[in-house]
Amino acid sequence: MLSPKENDLLTRVGPRTPMGEMMRRYWLPAMLTEEIPAPDCPPVRVRLLGEDLVAFRDTQGQVGLLDERCAHRGTSLFFGRNEECGLRCVYHGWKYDVNGNVVDTPAEPAGSDFKSKVRHTAYPCREIAGMIFTYMGAAERCPVFPRYEWFDLPTGNLFPVKSYLECNYLQGIEGDFDSSHTSFLHNNNLQDTERLKRDGAPRLEAESTAYGMRAVSIRKAGAERIYVRTSPYILPSFSIVPGPPTAKFEEDDIRGFRFWVPIDDTTTWLYILNMRRKPFSDDERHALRSWIAPDYRRVRNAGNNYLQDRDRQRTASYTGIDAVNPAEQDGCATETMGAICDRSREHLGYSDLTIIALRKMLLRALSDVAEGKDPPHVIRAAHDSDFSRLRSVKGILPAGTDWRQVMAGKGPNDG
Ligand code: FES
Ligand SMILES: [Fe+2]
Repeated sequence: MLSPKENDLLTRVGPRTPMGEMMRRYWLPAMLTEEIPAPDCPPVRVRLLGEDLVAFRDTQGQVGLLDERCAHRGTSLFFGRNEECGLRCVYHGWKYDVNGNVVDTPAEPAGSDFKSKVRHTAYPCREIAGMIFTYMGAAERCPVFPRYEWFDLPTGNLFPVKSYLECNYLQGIEGDFDSSHTSFLHNNNLQDTERLKRDGAPRLEAESTAYGMRAVSIRKAGAERIYVRTSPYILPSFSIVPGPPTAKFEEDDIRGFRFWVPIDDTTTWLYILNMRRKPFSDDERHALRSWIAPDYRRVRNAGNNYLQDRDRQRTASYTGIDAVNPAEQDGCATETMGAICDRSREHLGYSDLTIIALRKMLLRALSDVAEGKDPPHVIRAAHDSDFSRLRSVKGILPAGTDWRQVMAGKGPNDG
């Protein structure tokens, strides 16, 4: 449980809030490439950390992310004309380039240099893995982009999707750091009565790492063996979750790198960057996003009670919510806690050990920022940026073995 003040500290992300300040120290996903697919295509509204922005792709293919309100008198640039390397406001024709320079003010007298005196808010963007990342903090503190596993993968082996979550980001990502819920919420086979006996109450550990934290769960796998899963929490709000125990760590295994990005205090984008060692086919891409509607809302959402089927809940699955992606069941669990969960009313038990550790780590990171320091995983040098071996690791070990054996042969930023 947290005090109301601590809960506010961890969940409020607008400008000039402590967590908002911390989130603005990292590169964050702003949108998918598919949303502005071609030069001079229509601009798109982007709301991020409580700020209203507009994204556009200019004639040369460069991406701009601007304050939505025109610097002149505030008309929305969403309605602007995207033409000849700039976005032009429909009210009096002011035109902006991707860097926020005002390049034309056609309603001013000829020869006026008024435009050189105005600078519009524009955040730098980088396009990687079919996603557009932005950095919203002070220019002089812009960090090096971490090289995660997907950084150098061919685009055919990557498939990012995003879906809308109607609650605060922290509820979302706490689910990724909560191994014990998987035995219940994601139990899609009630006939497997052994399952809860086997793994309903795992032993848990959490440890600090250079990138944030690692959660560890250790379950019995028969009398002689244990099943170990490790899940990284990557600052500021990213994660990798293990796949089902049956998935091979081979060619066919699809891994997902997850980004929980606050739209504002009460809504969130979940980006899942699917990746694999071999390319995805069109059919596979279609299946991987079949649970998301064209407007990026989930097909199963709060408005339709997640299409819960009570018959199936009695006979087939723990929730009665069929899921192509477990995130559909997670959505029910996390959105129904309320727009911002009141963590002063919780009753935390042993199964919440990793969540408690995570919140402490985030509060410590906020203190770092308040003291003028970089929080963890803000990278300043290229030689510190290699996180290409960071994974969610899982494995079966003989009972009595130290769980760290599952990471054997890996470096400090791996696994
Ligand atoms: S308000 Fe945009 S040009 Fe006047
Ligand atoms: Fe889950």
